Amino acid sequence: MRPPALPLRRTLRPLLRDPVHALGSFARQTNGQVVRLSLGPFRPYLVSHPDHVQHVLRRDWDNHPREGMLWKPVERLAGRSIISDGPDWESARRVMQPLFTARYVASLTQGMAEAIDEGITALEPYARAGRWIDICAEMGRLVSKTVIRVLFGSKISVADAERLGPAYGIAATSFASRLLLPFAPEWVPMPGDRAFRRAVKTIDEVLMPLVRQSLREPGDGNDIISALARARRHEDGPEAERRIRDDLVSIYGASVETTAVSLTWLWPVLHDHPEVAARLYEEVETVVGRGPVDAACLPRLTYMRAVFDELLRLYPPGWILPRMAAKPGLLGDVPIEAGATLLISPFVTHRLEEFWDRPEEFDPERFAEGAQERRHRYAYFPFGGGPHVCIGRHLFYAEAPLMVAGLLARFRPQVRAPRPLTPFPAASLRPKELVEVRLVPVGGGAAA
Ligand code: HEM
Repeated sequence: MRPPALPLRRTLRPLLRDPVHALGSFARQTNGQVVRLSLGPFRPYLVSHPDHVQHVLRRDWDNHPREGMLWKPVERLAGRSIISDGPDWESARRVMQPLFTARYVASLTQGMAEAIDEGITALEPYARAGRWIDICAEMGRLVSKTVIRVLFGSKISVADAERLGPAYGIAATSFASRLLLPFAPEWVPMPGDRAFRRAVKTIDEVLMPLVRQSLREPGDGNDIISALARARRHEDGPEAERRIRDDLVSIYGASVETTAVSLTWLWPVLHDHPEVAARLYEEVETVVGRGPVDAACLPRLTYMRAVFDELLRLYPPGWILPRMAAKPGLLGDVPIEAGATLLISPFVTHRLEEFWDRPEEFDPERFAEGAQERRHRYAYFPFGGGPHVCIGRHLFYAEAPLMVAGLLARFRPQVRAPRPLTPFPAASLRPKELVEVRLVPVGGGAAA
């Protein structure tokens, strides 16, 4: 059967205005069936039904590699690594998997809690002064500090971290125009190109000396840099350097961007749902009191977990997972030709009416104990699925709740941001608008 197709006149304007919501509306118009989008020379299929998502990500995953034009900008930033495909991915996943198991992450939790507590203490002067802060930037700083401590064994200095974080943020957002016009050849200059190149240069200036040093002396540490260096030290020098660099950029980006972005969406959502916020504050009060957080808090923050599950349903940072059909095949009853691009989007599937009651409403009760069992496994996949499933999901569910609990133990957030917020289609789904938060010390007021 030929799939329904949406012509350029129906796709272009909504895509230029708000590409993320546009994809959702295309899926709704076709009841979640496979639909072909005409975007000039680029004609991808939008795949949103959970059965189809499961087929592409899991059952027939090796016929659907992470290749094609939408991966080009990612490859320019992160090279061939754990977030690409084929032998580079496989080998990197093998090296890093043991550092991300639930049990291993549990062993990192106390160190993580300490780094988080220090990071939160650094926010106190802002709170005392009643200053509005750009919450995306501050959450990025807090996550980066924590990740550098627990994953990178503190091998990146504070000064370098201050360069790396913003440079990565610029690199990850400046290729948005290339995501929207993926068929534009690299030699055609696009907005953001120059900022992208400068950002990559900064990233390399920070990481390459570390990579070379680690190859000279891999050490026996459990941090990612040492683990990669031990795995690669017998490979050809420049190739070993390239692979370690690419994996470090990938892990840094995948861990910091996604977590910081989800911690940006959280505050406006809590502000708009005071009943959820009140329940969350109560849980933190009971479990953490006035802080600091520690590893023992984590299993008791059960409502927090449901809040995050629901947040990742409505605002999944990994909002688009493009795949290429390596061989011709059938998706449902739609024939797909070899070389076609398939667009899978958790953002879209998570809002399909067929699978979600009141899909646009924020309601953590959907994730109360037992509720998941009634759901299609691939109606909800913020961390992807199949062999490429997110390696960092256990880390996220330790780090993010500890951060929020640590913040709420000391402060109440006030939020300043326009509504509705528009999702911006960068490497991770972040709000296009500035979100500012003022942290009011619990039990005391901020200066007006
Ligand atoms: C809210 C937090 C996060 C979200 C929503 C998220 C989402 C995802 C998704 C959707 C994928 C699948 C990509 C695909 O199929 O193409 C993925 C893969 C990955 N994630 Fe995450 N992630 C998060 C946090 C993290 C963290 C903390 C790390 C830490 C290292 C991480 C590292 C990775 C890596 C390395 C991959 C590639 C895995 C592979 O292909 O083998 N992520 N993530």
